[in-house]
Amino acid sequence: MTDTNTPNADQADFWNGPGGETWTTQRDRLNAMLGPIGDAAIARACPGPGEHVLDVGCGTGHTTGDLARRVAPGGSVMGLDISELMLQEARRFNEGHAVPVRFHAADAQTHKFDDDAFDLIFSRFGVMFFEDSVAAFANLYRALKPGGRIAFACWQPVDRNAWVHVPGGIVARHIPVDGPGKDPSAPGPFAFGAQDRITGILGAAGFGDLAIEGHETLVLMGGGGSIEAAVRAVTHQGPLSRAIHDAPEDVQTRIRDDLTAALADHTHDDGVRLGAGVWLVTARK
Ligand SMILES: C[S@@+](CC[C@H](N)C(=O)[O-])C[C@H]1O[C@@H](n2cnc3c(N)ncnc32)[C@H](O)[C@@H]1O
Repeated sequence: MTDTNTPNADQADFWNGPGGETWTTQRDRLNAMLGPIGDAAIARACPGPGEHVLDVGCGTGHTTGDLARRVAPGGSVMGLDISELMLQEARRFNEGHAVPVRFHAADAQTHKFDDDAFDLIFSRFGVMFFEDSVAAFANLYRALKPGGRIAFACWQPVDRNAWVHVPGGIVARHIPVDGPGKDPSAPGPFAFGAQDRITGILGAAGFGDLAIEGHETLVLMGGGGSIEAAVRAVTHQGPLSRAIHDAPEDVQTRIRDDLTAALADHTHDDGVRLGAGVWLVTARK
């Protein structure tokens, strides 16, 4: 267990434990769900040949590889994550790039980066978990070259994310769920839902030229395929999975039956799709 005096100790334990296990075993399914959002964020980030890029909270390294392909020739990418478990998977999937790709296990809030090291700092859903977001973004600011940019994707509030609140409403009929996003500023996936919070944090950290663009899409639940895959994504991967896992077996069965019936209404050719609202954020040093 991580020393509780260390900042982000809870997150380190979660992402080196159950969170990291889910994200590594379900890597392909999660990337099928989140890949198009990462592509949209990378398009806003505009990485180019010869650039040096940091991928914050890179997890299993899917976007790290995408960035590496965009900065060849002559560039480099560092993937940084608090979870060594996730990074083992990231290294496995990122051999043989045309540019140097390094992975480093560290906390982005406190890691001592070289000053002015990067042209671009990028993240797909990896910057909403800091205990002290202003300190974390100020730390990232120092690591950027003058004129360098930051670009990241984060979730809009839960009520604009049907992929969370539709299954959440169904599960709540059976068991009490401590809704994700209940405390909108607590570290977690929805901590950057409020635009004024993003503006305040990045401004206090020193960033200028801030743009926050709304990106609405339909995400492929469980990475696509059958309704069972979508139900499994809710019961085994998503923010509700822990509460469901702790419920008695007969309750779990009723939850699965209700989810199967409800998600059938959202079936497309490639699987179950539900609405998602994302902020694509860009700013400059
Ligand atoms: C929701 S996952 C996203 C992973 C990856 N970016 C992706 O899109 O597949 C959040 C990631 O942020 C990492 N993370 C959380 N807090 C962090 C911190 N303080 N410093 C570095 N990484 C952190 C987690 O370990 C996890 O890999």
